[in-house]
Amino acid sequence: MGKLKVGILISGRGSNMQALIDSCRSPDAPAEIALVLSNEPTAAGLRRAAEAGIPTRVVHHRDFADRAAFDAALHRALVGAGVEFVCLAGFMRLLTNDFVERWRDRMINIHPSLLPAFPGLNTHARALAAGVRFTGCTVHFVRSEMDTGPIIVQAAVPIRPEDNADSLAARVLEAEHRIYPYALRLVAEGRVTIIGERAIIAGAEAPGETLFNPVP
Ligand code: GAR
Repeated sequence: MGKLKVGILISGRGSNMQALIDSCRSPDAPAEIALVLSNEPTAAGLRRAAEAGIPTRVVHHRDFADRAAFDAALHRALVGAGVEFVCLAGFMRLLTNDFVERWRDRMINIHPSLLPAFPGLNTHARALAAGVRFTGCTVHFVRSEMDTGPIIVQAAVPIRPEDNADSLAARVLEAEHRIYPYALRLVAEGRVTIIGERAIIAGAEAPGETLFNPVP
């Protein structure tokens, strides 16, 4: 079977993108990165992708009259590059319903909290303000309501008394870099089925493999 052709959408530094690129380098990886696309022309991730030999594209949201036109251009760029599956990796634009439906069950996102807690922005400051003892990160299928959709993998990160938003973000980011490649592999291996808006993972009960705090 051929490798799953993945497009990654970014807006910024692209550290999760880099983790996905690195994990797809191994010859037995079930996915390959066909395109990295940014809505921000100056995104640092574009250079990192180019250095890794991955084709890049900029679709600048300011060049379009509205979100529908922008999303249509995103869709054309992805399809034109042969993309079959989309990973959002720090992509900071809201997507239209149309786009989300076109990629339904073929698009995943990473979010820096244990969803459904703390959707949206400033997750770490909000977790600290709420006094929760654990936060973390989530990889989930994308639905049109922001930061919702069937959850594939989560990692929990304990909050320490001395944490501030930056120290917490740094520890959560390490967990993000572990779980995003892992979630993509599960999907690309065809092990993820959505039943009643829950993602069911075939063989996930195997020893040594868990869907929380997975060890790569
Ligand atoms: C990551 O922490 C990602 O979880 C977050 O943006 C950061 C991007 O960093 N995404 C969101 O907040 C989406 N709601 P990166 O560009 O280095 O991967």
